[in-house]
Amino acid sequence: MAEAGLRVCASSDLLERGLGVQWDLRYCGMDERAFALRIDGKAVAYLNRCAHVPTELDWQPNEFLDSDRRYILCAVHGAVYSPHTGACVMGRCGRAGLIPVAVAEVNGELHWYPSSTLQPLPASNGALPHDPRLPPAAGPDSGA
Ligand code: FES
Repeated sequence: MAEAGLRVCASSDLLERGLGVQWDLRYCGMDERAFALRIDGKAVAYLNRCAHVPTELDWQPNEFLDSDRRYILCAVHGAVYSPHTGACVMGRCGRAGLIPVAVAEVNGELHWYPSSTLQPLPASNGALPHDPRLPPAAGPDSGA
């Protein structure tokens, strides 16, 4: 991979077919989120964006898998994706699949790798997982 990896989380945060870990990034210049899962021992990651309508997939915060923990399920219209490849298995995703994000586990940490279309947010190093409990960063117009 050409660019250096950016830390997402500790590898131990990804449990086998457990909750996803999300972080913010840019996709083709738009602010988006990505998510990582551990599937059959391997970390995988995709843009959190359904191929049917560009909306987030999780039906509860960080919950991407169906009740059998077998497939990625879109909360909006129920499109079903392979967690191994992001390919559409069934539903309103047509032939399109999820957009993969390159990840690797390095020294007990999950790292993601920017590409020509997937970039870190300019306001941060893009490496921190999204945490909705944190207040938004103070901007130049916030008076802080
Ligand atoms: S938005 Fe995901 S299936 Fe329609």
